[in-house]
Amino acid sequence: MEELLSQYETVNLSAVKIWFKAGSIKDFPSNRGGCIKYKNKQIAIFNFERRNEWYACQNACPHKMEMVLSRGMTGSTDGIPKIACPMHKKTFSLVDGSNLNGDDFKIATYPVKIEGNEVFVGFLE
Ligand code: FES
Repeated sequence: MEELLSQYETVNLSAVKIWFKAGSIKDFPSNRGGCIKYKNKQIAIFNFERRNEWYACQNACPHKMEMVLSRGMTGSTDGIPKIACPMHKKTFSLVDGSNLNGDDFKIATYPVKIEGNEVFVGFLE
């Protein structure tokens, strides 16, 4: 479990080395998530159309390591875009990955950029 989690580390925009083409805009449903695989990682990508923003994070929920965050419910709390895990409803900020329920679990987040109709996710390697 530790090993699975250690694959996921937040990537800051300024540190991106590789922009991976995740698909085209139409591959991702509005205000919901989609999942891609990059190397050994599952990454959830959210087309947050209500906010005209895109986000990406690890697909594994750190609570029970279920690969489910892409199927979670998007929303906002105090202006922070968030994802609620469909299993036990822990909610995470899509901006910095913090757990908005106040306990220790945190998720890794990744930069997303849109070029034309294509969606790219930023990685370190
Ligand atoms: S597995 Fe996600 S909240 Fe429990």
